[in-house]
Amino acid sequence: MQFFVDTALLSEIEEAAAMGILDGVTTNPSLMAKAGVQDFDAHYRAIAQITSGPVSAEVISTTYADMIQEARRLHAIAPNIVVKIPFIPDGVKALKTLKEDGIPTNCTLIFSPLQALIAAKAGATYVSPFLGRLDDIGHEGIEIIRQIRRIFDNYGFETQILAASLRHPYHVLLCALEGADVATMPFAVLKQLFHHPLTDKGLAQFLADYQKLHVRA
Ligand code: G3P
Repeated sequence: MQFFVDTALLSEIEEAAAMGILDGVTTNPSLMAKAGVQDFDAHYRAIAQITSGPVSAEVISTTYADMIQEARRLHAIAPNIVVKIPFIPDGVKALKTLKEDGIPTNCTLIFSPLQALIAAKAGATYVSPFLGRLDDIGHEGIEIIRQIRRIFDNYGFETQILAASLRHPYHVLLCALEGADVATMPFAVLKQLFHHPLTDKGLAQFLADYQKLHVRA
């Protein structure tokens, strides 16, 4: 399972990369706004220099022709830029053209397994089902991952399931159990994955016992 960090903050991406387990980065216009980014293209270039893994950059246009033009511009910024396309009819059409062009895509705002099936048929490299936002409205978000995994396996789709809108480590665990290919998560969640009180307590005990034997007063 690959770990992506879902942020536009360069400091977080640098820190995550330094941890040695970062496989890629996802952004969206809301995350870019939260990071106070003005020049989006320069910022994507900076992110793509920190990691050689896939970096999702989202289009802000909503018509087929504009999305294609924007996608080509975004992908030209760096070879590891994956163009994030919203799941709308023009977006699906764009996925197919971009597949033919050899431009990797991440179909975003997926809230049903049938949307994921359509995006896969159109040739999306990744689909991004939003777990947390489904949980927010009283659905069992993880069910969408379970169903997409089954559909993709049934038909041998190569499209990767990129589980998004993950809010806590338990979401990451559920995604790993259900076979999501990628989990993208806020940096805070990535850090949380490392911590277990018994690990901290156990290490403190080991070091204390070593000290007792080897350190003279
Ligand atoms: O990048 C898309 C997704 O991860 C957004 O998450 O927390 O805004 O629902 P959230």
